[in-house]
Amino acid sequence: MASFSFLPAISASSTALTRVVFPARPTLQLKRRFAVRSSYAEAGTRDDYSSAPIDVVADVKNERVVVLGGSGFVGSAICKAAVSKGIEVISLSRSGRPTYPSSWVDQVTWVSGDVFYVNWDEVLVGATAVVSTLGGFGSDEQMKRINGEGNVVAVNAAKEYGIPKFILISVHDYNLPPFLLSSGYFTGKRKAESEVLSKYPNSGVVLRPAFIYGKRRVDGFEIPLDLVGEPAERILRALENFTKPLNSLPASDLLLAPPVSVDDVALAVINAIKDDDEFGIFTIDQIKEAAQKVRA
Ligand SMILES: NC(=O)c1ccc[n+]([C@@H]2O[C@H](COP(=O)([O-])OP(=O)(O)OC[C@H]3O[C@@H](n4cnc5c(N)ncnc54)[C@H](OP(=O)(O)O)[C@@H]3O)[C@@H](O)[C@H]2O)c1
Repeated sequence: MASFSFLPAISASSTALTRVVFPARPTLQLKRRFAVRSSYAEAGTRDDYSSAPIDVVADVKNERVVVLGGSGFVGSAICKAAVSKGIEVISLSRSGRPTYPSSWVDQVTWVSGDVFYVNWDEVLVGATAVVSTLGGFGSDEQMKRINGEGNVVAVNAAKEYGIPKFILISVHDYNLPPFLLSSGYFTGKRKAESEVLSKYPNSGVVLRPAFIYGKRRVDGFEIPLDLVGEPAERILRALENFTKPLNSLPASDLLLAPPVSVDDVALAVINAIKDDDEFGIFTIDQIKEAAQKVRA
């Protein structure tokens, strides 16, 4: 089980001798606190061992993030962004390591496995956050299973292993008629959301993007969804004030909810990983704001 009692101590005395003591890797590192204790003597005088010691405590957070579905469209953008921020990344998906070459791909630890059958010891030990991009379409049963139950399994495993943060990529709250909202996709998403928010009330993050654009790889080909998504986002944002009255029309969000770039989603995840004060549900606009904070 997780242990919070990790306190590597660097002790520096006024002599040239510095002792650095690092204990064995713990199963969980929430925050690494480096306690530096040192005494200073004025130049030209002999060492004054009676002078008051100065305690310097610095917070250095070493993140180790598990991305469920790191090989997918959104997951790979998250892995890439995390690696570029110096975060250690482990991805879990059935297909494992992507086949295309890329320098960030080499910096991720790829685990092949199914969320329903994986040995969590192989992925969760020592993690500081779990990001789930698990989801997809198919029959009603399949959608309930991967969007809902798969994420519920993952949230509970993360909780059991004492992982302090869980970030879920969910979906925009479309103003759809009830018969569409009762599909396995949306019921699965809401089930996953409530599991995250109940098990992680003070650190769980749920991102609710609408259509996500970027370059999606399918069978070795790149589909440039940004060619449609980017202009659509610009136009919808420019027309926001005019289209607002239409928001009350059922299902109008299918046309009016602005798309969001896969990079914005990835940076909003980075923001959630880094900022312990941010938790709860993030709407499309809040995803963009969070991404902007990381860019700034
Ligand atoms: N794309 C959008 O426009 C959009 C919009 C709103 C919300 N979302 C949500 O964002 C999330 C990511 O979407 P995406 O477009 O990136 O989907 P994606 O490309 O299909 O990625 C899904 C990832 O989950 C993995 N996965 C699926 N079943 C698994 C299982 N049983 N065990 C382990 N890994 C499994 C897949 O890898 P394997 O198949 O190799 O296992 C893949 O890496 C989804 O939850 C989706 O609902 C997407």
